[in-house]
Amino acid sequence: MKPAILELKSVTKRFRGLVATDDVSLRVEPGTITSLIGPNGAGKSTIFNLVTGYLPPSAGEILFHGEQIDGQSTVAIARRGIARAFQIAKPFPEITVHDNVRIGALFGRDGPRDVAAVTEAALETAGLADFADRPAGDLTVGYLRRLELARAIAARPVLLLADEPCAGLNPAETEEICDILRRVRDRGTTVFLVEHDMEAVMRISDRIIVLDAGAKIAEGTPDEISADPKVIAAYLGTPE
Ligand SMILES: Nc1ncnc2c1ncn2[C@@H]1O[C@H](COP(=O)(O)OP(=O)(O)OP(=O)(O)O)[C@@H](O)[C@H]1O
Ligand SMILES: [Mg+2]
Repeated sequence: MKPAILELKSVTKRFRGLVATDDVSLRVEPGTITSLIGPNGAGKSTIFNLVTGYLPPSAGEILFHGEQIDGQSTVAIARRGIARAFQIAKPFPEITVHDNVRIGALFGRDGPRDVAAVTEAALETAGLADFADRPAGDLTVGYLRRLELARAIAARPVLLLADEPCAGLNPAETEEICDILRRVRDRGTTVFLVEHDMEAVMRISDRIIVLDAGAKIAEGTPDEISADPKVIAAYLGTPE
């Protein structure tokens, strides 16, 4: 087994009486696209909130490169190289696509950087080079999603978390997002993905982890997961 880039050890998150994440242990291996799937309310976004430091776990440990990160601030975790792309992009609409991405390059992972080059590279990876000089407010929802990824990519993450990047997109836009995520992985950034579009998940994932009601119920390759009776019962259903 390769050393994990991200490891959760018996992580539980309680909100008053509700157990949103129930004793979850999981590993994300470097160089993979690893997807976290499961029904609404399964606890997927909560795990992203725990990993990025927006929420502290109630119990358990979160390790990044073998070092404990739970309890650290969101800024400290971002500086270590974990970036997150949100489903709802909130760019500065009045400034250009380029300058929105440049803001990502100014923050993010610690270390020396050529901000201009990082910005150009992120625009190119996200397929936005031709839109660089447009105000962000002009973008359609599909391109806003690319901008949100570009902003996160510009942070030069070691681990990129993307929460439902394909939600509400048509098949062509979804394929564009899949291409971007593959490029990100192939350039050396590990991708941790939450997504409900199962066709996209099955196509691009190296590994899949399945949550149901806060607990991990399965993990494996796309083929293993799509044939797993527990996963079919909890989430995938049976094909027509
Ligand atoms: N900040 C919070 N305070 C209270 N309850 C919360 C909070 N965040 C999430 N929850 C609850 O925790 C459970 C898991 O929510 P979470 O958002 O992680 O699910 P999810 O798997 O991302 O679902 P979806 O697919 O709908 O996005 C839900 O019951 C949700 O209502
Ligand atoms: Mg969610």
